[in-house]
Amino acid sequence: MNKPITIAIDGYSSCGKSTLAKALANRLNFAFVDTGAMYRAVCLYFLRSKLDWKKLSTSEIEAVLDKIAITFEYNSLKNSSDTFLNGENVEEEIRGKEVSQSVSELSQLKAIRSRMVGLQQKVENRSGLIMDGRDIGTKVFPNAELKLFMTADPAIRVQRRFNELKRSGKQVSLEEVSENLKSRDYNDTHREENPLRKAVDSIELDNSFLNQEEQLHLVLRILTEEGLI
Ligand code: DC
Repeated sequence: MNKPITIAIDGYSSCGKSTLAKALANRLNFAFVDTGAMYRAVCLYFLRSKLDWKKLSTSEIEAVLDKIAITFEYNSLKNSSDTFLNGENVEEEIRGKEVSQSVSELSQLKAIRSRMVGLQQKVENRSGLIMDGRDIGTKVFPNAELKLFMTADPAIRVQRRFNELKRSGKQVSLEEVSENLKSRDYNDTHREENPLRKAVDSIELDNSFLNQEEQLHLVLRILTEEGLI
């Protein structure tokens, strides 16, 4: 039997990485890990505990991380996984405004990144694995069989994120969403530790004018042409 493959999907916030990753995982019966959800869950823990990460030493941050267990559980109603923080389903809360505003700052910390990367590299790949984030193709799985780098026009990304938040009943303005995306893009690309970069051997996928079905077919075609499925 062929070795199960790994697909790394990186890109800016709200480019539809997780949506594509989920659709691919469902189609191919691969496992999917949303690494953004891991950073979000860590961020939620720090916020709830009222811990100011800027004032903590590396060993203090590591001690906090020792108290955090992040797990994923399949939710058949949504046909995707929910994120659990120390056994509590926090899927809704980690997508909220507070976490979204702080997560990219917190995820710049070296101690947090090394712990998350270590956990991600340990995920078992039994029958194919898809992981999405910012540093998957460059740091977590530099040898992934397929690396995608997703982009989209910034105005389209803002509108998509705004619609998504509206649909889930969150009260935000278009300006707030736009500012949040701008600052996350800046932090994600300018941090010292594993910044968001397009891996040289990745395939760029600009989905500004592609719907979900078109993106899925495009990637399935690439996988078939590369002999990976
Ligand atoms: O994909 P997302 O928007 O849910 O990710 C939330 C934040 O986590 C994002 O602003 C940057 C950070 N992140 C990261 O630094 N590295 C990853 N592999 C995934 C996410």
